[in-house]
Amino acid sequence: MTRVLQVGALKPALAEQLVATYDADVLPTDDAERDAYLAEHGEQVTAVVTSGRFGVDRALMERLPGLTAIVSFGVGYDTTDVAAAMERGVAVSHTPDVLTDCVADTAVGLAIDVMRGLPAADRYVRRGAWPTDGDYPLTRRISGARVGILGLGRIGLAIAKRLEGFGCDISYHSRHRVDGSPYDYAPTPVALAEAVDLLVVATSGGPASTHLVDRDVLEALGSDGYLVNVARGSVVDENALVDLLLSGGLAGAGLDVFADEPHVPQALLDLDNVVLLPHLASGTVETRAAMVRLTLDNLESWLARQELLTPVPELLASSARG
Ligand code: 8YV
Repeated sequence: MTRVLQVGALKPALAEQLVATYDADVLPTDDAERDAYLAEHGEQVTAVVTSGRFGVDRALMERLPGLTAIVSFGVGYDTTDVAAAMERGVAVSHTPDVLTDCVADTAVGLAIDVMRGLPAADRYVRRGAWPTDGDYPLTRRISGARVGILGLGRIGLAIAKRLEGFGCDISYHSRHRVDGSPYDYAPTPVALAEAVDLLVVATSGGPASTHLVDRDVLEALGSDGYLVNVARGSVVDENALVDLLLSGGLAGAGLDVFADEPHVPQALLDLDNVVLLPHLASGTVETRAAMVRLTLDNLESWLARQELLTPVPELLASSARG
């Protein structure tokens, strides 16, 4: 018997398919109702479909003893406790590759926007300042800038390739040096930040990268430096970021992700040298459709033959070890 459970509010196109094809349940959000659902049906749930925004923690897994797979929408899956899943033999999938281009496009858009001040200049025109105050102040050149990529995975690489087209001088820091990469490797995030005009955060989220971009890294980037983050808010020490932006210790920031989404610190809302997006990097019609398709394909493949099309890297590494 297959029982599919949706955890978290999924995109309507995905939720509709899950109900139409699998008659999937939705885990209630109200605590008492959720508890009642788990007490009555928890044992029968064989597969969970969730997203990077919600995920499945250890406590929920404990209430689902028959769970065999967690199929997650989104490339990031830091909200799912993969270690707990592996202990239980629960497989986990995500949706890599299909969103790489759009996330990289957004990173480049943020870099241009913040360094050239385009959204602030747009506000300048709209509030009628051009005729009264004259030309807009000069901004910073992105072509030829020194760019550091933090996390040279699929998305980091796609960002680097795009910025190569702008004649940027690319360097990177990752957990491991990437074999055969044409870009200079910096041994630490601080060393990377010291050497660049623009630091782009493209690493995965989760405990291993929490506050990887701390005050020291931001100070190393310095008062002429810009930060772009399309990874997870948790990777950057947001309080330090706000302090440095307020004190002029950093030139600007382009952010698609925040520490406590959907809440954005008021101090950032009041600044003109930041560009703030509501976590939309993968949000195009084409990419979201591909993400929905890949999520459904993972589920179908799992239920039909116990194989995930795009398992998370931890699972691949453990099966490679044997
Ligand atoms: C998703 C993302 O919108 O893929 C990711 O990791 O951050 C976004 O593309 C988000 O995960 C959906 O919850």
